[in-house]
Amino acid sequence: MPDRPIRVVVTVGSTRAGRFAPIVASWFVKRASARPDLVVDVVDLAETRLPDALTGFGSLPPEAVTALLPRLAAADAFVVVTPEYNHSYPAPIKTLIDWFFAEWQAKPVGFVSYGGHSGGLRAVEHLRQVFAEVHAVGIRDTVSFHGARDQFDADGVPVDTEGATRVAEVMLDQLTWWALALREAKEETPLHHRLNRRPAPGPAPLRRAGRLRRPARVQPSLSATLALARAWPASLGSDRGAGRGNTAAVPDPCGRRPRWCNRRHEHRSRRTPPTSVSGCGHGARPTPTR
Ligand SMILES: Cc1cc2nc3c(=O)[nH]c(=O)nc-3n(C[C@H](O)[C@H](O)[C@H](O)COP(=O)(O)O)c2cc1C
Repeated sequence: MPDRPIRVVVTVGSTRAGRFAPIVASWFVKRASARPDLVVDVVDLAETRLPDALTGFGSLPPEAVTALLPRLAAADAFVVVTPEYNHSYPAPIKTLIDWFFAEWQAKPVGFVSYGGHSGGLRAVEHLRQVFAEVHAVGIRDTVSFHGARDQFDADGVPVDTEGATRVAEVMLDQLTWWALALREAKEETPLHHRLNRRPAPGPAPLRRAGRLRRPARVQPSLSATLALARAWPASLGSDRGAGRGNTAAVPDPCGRRPRWCNRRHEHRSRRTPPTSVSGCGHGARPTPTR
């Protein structure tokens, strides 16, 4: 038993009217809550209703996002309950992942999937790729229900209760192992130094070719961005309307050089001309306006 319980956020990923999700999620939450080593917090995306349009870099996030932030930040581990839609997972789950970053870092993510013939496993495989990008750790064993509607009785209990429970316990055992290991590791070594470190310089020819010169991306937590945005003096303006002749209004909260920048805020290089697109070069390249 851990000295303090592991906080698990269970996310219900379907927001569809008439969804089957609550049946699967309720059963799983009941199982997880029965374990003395876990404290479970359920985040139902049908209730949180995060906006699907992200805000501008450095802008204050909407209330739905700031309200959810402390719950995700406090989590030691996550479980995503996902159906399969067109060989992948539902869009609201991607929106949830994209709103946050540091809140996922170095935490394990387990999956409970359901769907038609595939049991939602293709949704899970896609989620693994996305969670890897935010430094989260996908748990190997998945709880999966094929032809889900036939797998639960009228009381919301799996027809094969014993089998489903066994698989859920295996996944939760793996999840708790990773949650504890990563919690201890984070207490020992701050994340910043390990996950956002620049790669060691390679051999000279590679360095000359510029292939190893790009630093690892440094991305502040949403809470840090929030604090910066709140502290930003109103007199300096916001990033709205940034463009030609308005570049001074764009905050550069971390003070890093532009090529070290991250996607949560804007940078302006003194050497480059103002651009028509406020951005830092990730994704579409800004177009010079003169
Ligand atoms: C838009 C849409 C696409 C779907 N695509 C798939 C699919 O590719 N593979 C599959 O096995 N089931 C697919 N299904 C079936 C769902 O996985 C199944 O109906 C599941 O119960 C939906 O979960 P929900 O009711 O909680 O939203 C799809 C369902 C919908 C609504």
